[in-house]
Amino acid sequence: MKKDKIIIAIDGFSSTGKSTIAKQLATALNYVYVDTGAMYRAVTLFAMQNRLVGKDFLNEEALVSSLNQIDLRFVFNPTLKYAEIYLNGVNVEKEIRSIALSQLVSKIAAISEVRKKLVEQQQKMGKERGIVMDGRDIGTVVFPDAELKLFLTADPEKRAIRRYKELLDKGHDVNYPEVLENVQQRDLIDSTREDSPLTKADDAVEIDNSDMGLQDQFERIYDLANRRIKALSS
Ligand code: DC
Repeated sequence: MKKDKIIIAIDGFSSTGKSTIAKQLATALNYVYVDTGAMYRAVTLFAMQNRLVGKDFLNEEALVSSLNQIDLRFVFNPTLKYAEIYLNGVNVEKEIRSIALSQLVSKIAAISEVRKKLVEQQQKMGKERGIVMDGRDIGTVVFPDAELKLFLTADPEKRAIRRYKELLDKGHDVNYPEVLENVQQRDLIDSTREDSPLTKADDAVEIDNSDMGLQDQFERIYDLANRRIKALSS
């Protein structure tokens, strides 16, 4: 079938730079970028605001029955050139990146009913294709038919340093050991959970960017995407 626009699925461990490459690709190809991690984070924020989750507790039943009260939307910010996430009409982009929330999000992302609701929304967003979506299960569950699948990896220490610097730049009060511990803990929970664990799709291209510069990575992946688009449109 002739296709002008494709779906690009980007999965991988936390802090491997998925959103950076996804934004670069979306801008270069004039595609829509969707950060599915932001969706799981926004549901976690809702659960925190309603005291349904904390360090030592999770009221799964109450959260599942409140899912219909959660409205998630992406609104394009022309200054930043990407869409920001709104939870029930409020822009929560900054709040959802806090370390306190990052320590709880994997618990929320392991709930099947949460995943079901978010996966349905994600599949709708990709109906017209022309989308770059990043997450943990995009190439395996959300779009198993994506025309280009990438799986990003990097050493945990390097990822934690990147995340630490990014959080400091954004004005969060963090220290390196807690960021490293969070990265390692999320890797473990995300890849061992029962529902849609983080795994590389058989047909995904694996990229270890531990020692790769951003520009090099972009050129390599942009070239891959263009080849795929060309092959499918001719
Ligand atoms: O990409 P991120 O760090 O913002 O993702 C936050 C958490 O959400 C991550 O620990 C795992 C979960 N997640 C998921 O389970 N499935 C996705 N498609 C995206 C994120």
